[in-house]
Amino acid sequence: MQGLDAQSLKSVSDEIVQAVDAAENLEALDAIRVNALGKKGRISLLMRELGGMDADARKAAGQALNIVKDQVAAALEAKQFVLPQAALNEKLATEAIDVSLPSRPSREARLHPLSRTIEEVLAIFAEMGFQVAEGPDIESDYYNFTALNIPPEHPARQEHDTFYLPANADGQRKVLRTHTSPVQIRTMEAKEPPIRIIVPGRTYRSDHDATHSPMFHQCEGLVIGDGIHMGHLKGCLIDFCRAFFGVDDLPVRFRPSYFPFTEPSAEVDIGCTRDGGGLKIGAGDDWLEILGSGMVNPRVLANCGYDPEKYQGFAFGMGIERIAMLKYGIPDLRTFYDSDLRWMRHYGFLPFDAPSIHAGLVGGAG
Ligand code: PHE
Repeated sequence: MQGLDAQSLKSVSDEIVQAVDAAENLEALDAIRVNALGKKGRISLLMRELGGMDADARKAAGQALNIVKDQVAAALEAKQFVLPQAALNEKLATEAIDVSLPSRPSREARLHPLSRTIEEVLAIFAEMGFQVAEGPDIESDYYNFTALNIPPEHPARQEHDTFYLPANADGQRKVLRTHTSPVQIRTMEAKEPPIRIIVPGRTYRSDHDATHSPMFHQCEGLVIGDGIHMGHLKGCLIDFCRAFFGVDDLPVRFRPSYFPFTEPSAEVDIGCTRDGGGLKIGAGDDWLEILGSGMVNPRVLANCGYDPEKYQGFAFGMGIERIAMLKYGIPDLRTFYDSDLRWMRHYGFLPFDAPSIHAGLVGGAG
């Protein structure tokens, strides 16, 4: 029959395969597939003609037609694979962004003062050889309290206004960590001395007013070694306060205090004046408390498997919001979390202006 001779079949095949090659998108490709292999497609119609042929001719023509059908199907399949990639390549080429172009000044981002303050604190302690460590915000009761020498009935637990999570299957209630001190325990469990870590992170207490936020930030420090004593604690923290506030002769005072996990404990105050209503940090007649510290309690060392006869250490913890407010004159704690762009433009920092000891840590805000 006319349409099924070898010559005609070859031209049908060539024609369809050429159309497939030329198809520019998936819709066009689908139309070609329907026109060729669909119910009323060219190849399907030719298949029907086989019925009217005698047995020998039908066998030969059927085989030839099947070859054409396979060729067309293979071409369609190959194109189906290539087309989306071509579309993606074209999209990538047209949407390319030149990342080396300067940013638009009107859209310049600002670094949040809390991020900046954390970077400053880390820069100072990095210079003293501290390494950054971190721990989880959701903490077990053991790490947040018990291992830090705050047993279940200890009054210090009440002072922390802890957020408790619902009980696990085993009846244990996890907590949102009330301080960064649990990272002391995690680090001592994982490592042998010498240890020198600085731990920035989020902390949580159920408290909310002009000077308290339910989520706030702390930075913890821990130094453990052989022969570490109170002189090391004092030298380290005096240097930190002077570098952070940029006042070389800043008076620093160590006032006896109490924390269950340090013994002895000291609160650290810096000098200031409040003349004329304003607050000025530096030599003066007044004091501001800025951090808690102490020699690591031997019980805490023992809880972590250390021999307190062999190793000693000191620890300290500071509130990031508090030192940021003091350094940058930010009057209300709640504004840190308002996401107010005007506030960010005023108090924020240029993102590429990374703090370092040599570049100076006391640039003005903004
Ligand atoms: N964890 C204490 C607090 O949140 C601060 C602190 C840390 C005190 C380390 C001493 C040593 O108040």
